[in-house]
Amino acid sequence: MTSPARKRILVGVGGGIAAYKVCSVLRHFTESGHDVHVVPTPAALKFVGAATFEALSGHPVSTSVFENVDEVAHVRLGQEADLVVIAPATADLLSRAAAGRADDLLTASLLTARCPVLYAPAMHTEMWEHPATQDNVALLRRRGATVMPPASGRLTGRDSGAGRLPDPGEIGLLGDLLLDEPDALPYDLAGVRIVISAGGTREPLDPVRYLGNHSSGKQGFALARAAAARGADVTLVAGSTSNAGDPAGVDIVPISSAVELADEMTKRAAEADVIIMAAAVADFRPVAVSDAKIKKSSAGPAPIELETNPDILAGLVQARGRGEIGADTVIVGFAAETGDENGGVLEHGRAKFARKGCDLLVVNPVGSGKAFGTEDNTGWLLSAAGTETALPLTSKTLLASRILDSLAPLLSQR
Ligand code: CTP
Repeated sequence: MTSPARKRILVGVGGGIAAYKVCSVLRHFTESGHDVHVVPTPAALKFVGAATFEALSGHPVSTSVFENVDEVAHVRLGQEADLVVIAPATADLLSRAAAGRADDLLTASLLTARCPVLYAPAMHTEMWEHPATQDNVALLRRRGATVMPPASGRLTGRDSGAGRLPDPGEIGLLGDLLLDEPDALPYDLAGVRIVISAGGTREPLDPVRYLGNHSSGKQGFALARAAAARGADVTLVAGSTSNAGDPAGVDIVPISSAVELADEMTKRAAEADVIIMAAAVADFRPVAVSDAKIKKSSAGPAPIELETNPDILAGLVQARGRGEIGADTVIVGFAAETGDENGGVLEHGRAKFARKGCDLLVVNPVGSGKAFGTEDNTGWLLSAAGTETALPLTSKTLLASRILDSLAPLLSQR
């Protein structure tokens, strides 16, 4: 018997060069205390030996239904799994899964599994874009599987494009999400264009110094990760972050200062169906930016004169009011609050919601170890319809998926 927190995970490995990266995915789950069984295809063992998978998982590895027949492994492994992760999901493996074949232990196990199945594709761009592969992926998604978009970049050989295995950390985070909530990733945002800002801004003082904040960017990146897995076309305008991950299939636009962020958001807003301002934007910036490093002086530190940055969120809402952005574009804001003598976190959040005029506001308590840099988050979701929903403490990826759930009714009104 496994304890409720210790889940059974079947990691299916396809025959692609990225098979070696799956060792990190395995470790992610074993280090979280889960019981992991690895089922490679015969081709996968040409890339990584069975001994590696056996050592990392602590279980014997086989590829055929004709090994250990008395254990009926092809039925048991699938039936007992709480999660199946297929990585790399090659074109051939996606095709065999879509066709419902059972010609090796892995595909047979897929037919007996009733738990969430997460596919992390890896192949050459032409193979990924081929209508046969796209049809197989669409079919698997219609049947309820989550197929991550592949990452883009350098592929084996000289080519580059869409088809790299998503970062192992990303596969692990989406796997964790499906273990927490099996229905967390419906494929319901296909064709929805979402622009998300995340991370902190840096307001330069001189070539080496800036005014910044503690934002890790993790909540905004989690939104991008979950939205892309749910089918959205995601652009992530990213400021400074720390260990926020590298969501696959997301177009990442780096920015540094609030003014750069304002420019990028304004440029992209007219094309967006949803705008989410999760960035921690500096309210002020130094008036003067020195071209040379500011030196110490015997007169002591010189005062830094500040000027106000644009309020990007309020500006986007106003631009929508003037018709510069589609009237049905959904605008979501965040409020990071500590509470003070004038009111608690929620009171400040309500006041900010009224000030900003957006459609949804996520209110997060921050300070004393809360929200900034952590893996978990909590708070409230306020809607323009007047609802206030408590968001229980959970992983930032699951919280992201709950926030995305609340977009559905707003998008369906359009
Ligand atoms: N925001 C923005 N432009 C700014 C400041 C904030 O677009 N110059 C956005 C943030 O991305 C967030 C929301 O406004 O979605 C609230 O940000 P927050 O820092 O909590 O609030 P402020 O507007 O800065 O108000 P205050 O500092 O008084 O709490």
